[in-house]
Amino acid sequence: MIVSAKEMLQKAQEGHYAVGQFNINNLEWTKAVLLTAEELKSPVILGVSAGAGKYMTGFKTVAAMVRAMDEELGITVPVAIHLDHGTYDACYKCIKAGFSSIMFDGSSLPFEENLAKTTELVNVAHNLGLSIEAEVGAIGGEEDGVVGMGECADPAECKTIADLGVDMLAAGIGNIHGVYPENWPGLSFPTLEAIKAKTGDMPLVLHGGTGIPDDQIKKAISMGVAKINVNTECQIVFTEATRAYIEAGKDKVGKGFDPRKVLAPGTEAIKAKVKEKMELFGSVGKA
Ligand code: 13P
Repeated sequence: MIVSAKEMLQKAQEGHYAVGQFNINNLEWTKAVLLTAEELKSPVILGVSAGAGKYMTGFKTVAAMVRAMDEELGITVPVAIHLDHGTYDACYKCIKAGFSSIMFDGSSLPFEENLAKTTELVNVAHNLGLSIEAEVGAIGGEEDGVVGMGECADPAECKTIADLGVDMLAAGIGNIHGVYPENWPGLSFPTLEAIKAKTGDMPLVLHGGTGIPDDQIKKAISMGVAKINVNTECQIVFTEATRAYIEAGKDKVGKGFDPRKVLAPGTEAIKAKVKEKMELFGSVGKA
């Protein structure tokens, strides 16, 4: 069931668990995440970055595929199709394409411009029944060519953006996209505490979910994080499973070269990873 992310995140915030955002790259990814969410009766958010959208030939293709798949698979749990780290233009494209949720990432803009553009997009999204995520304080690491420094957000700026009526707020607390470096100091819980104190019941978003130790994830959820984004970890397990299949020579046996067979182990690996994360985030049975 395709819905905006508003209600599922409010429930998560009240219930002290988090909804996973799993980024999708193709049909196998989408199918794996949807089937796992249905099996575990968990709400879920499908994240689509600009790069992944382009790879799948455009946001229209993505929205059409997700909506059709949701229907054909008979998915009953709440599913949001969400733009990940959108520019101003990408937000409008996704609204037109049939997404149910958008993220406007104005964190690299001067704060006043982030504020003005977020204000406009909140109104547009809400008038059309979509949910909207905003970002304050760049998330570290590299995503789609944009490199952030992992800065911590300013709690006062978080409050100003939260007061615009966004449905979820991504605030940097030392998190980084991709694999964490050995010397990563961990999440800044004092920053999270200060942001939470200013933003009240606003569902907070933790980007860069890959590789954050489980105890830090649980602590972050207990302190108000209601949405956690995971991308790289699914890519790693997909690739490892695919390599194992090829290295075992399974593509050389019978019709093992059939793409449906080649892609099956990777798809199963994504399902297992999504299951593990949903259990960790506490969203199982919350649909
Ligand atoms: P990871 O790739 O580090 O899991 O981060 C995903 C993310 O935050 C998408 O916005």
